[in-house]
Amino acid sequence: MSAMLLTEIDHVAIAVRDLEAAIDYYRRAFGATVDHREIVESDGVEEALLKVAESYVQLLTPTRPDSPVAKAIEKRGEGLHHVGYRVADCAVALQAMIDAGATPIDSAPRPGSRGTTVAFVHPKSSFGTLIELVQE
Ligand code: CO
Repeated sequence: MSAMLLTEIDHVAIAVRDLEAAIDYYRRAFGATVDHREIVESDGVEEALLKVAESYVQLLTPTRPDSPVAKAIEKRGEGLHHVGYRVADCAVALQAMIDAGATPIDSAPRPGSRGTTVAFVHPKSSFGTLIELVQE
């Protein structure tokens, strides 16, 4: 792979227990406001996106006890959950990662929040970081 496939850091996702408290904290600390808010039922999360230039801080909270984010908080506590890398073509970037040795969580791109197309890649194959590929 020689062409650079990443076009932006799309978002940094932080898992929190109390979404309202986290939003309020970011507002008081930085004057940050919520640009987009959404419940993604299939992932069992509610998210609030705080826009930072062309990227987002994504505050994430579980909507049910069996959601992956609930399990992550249970296991590791609150904190950095994943990094979203923006790409022009999610399928191309996913294949490039697989070719580089990545273990996909999603075998093919699927719908994400705010109308994006996304695919997750397992942290064990990516130096301990859960990676989400995001195509707008
Ligand atoms: Co994300």
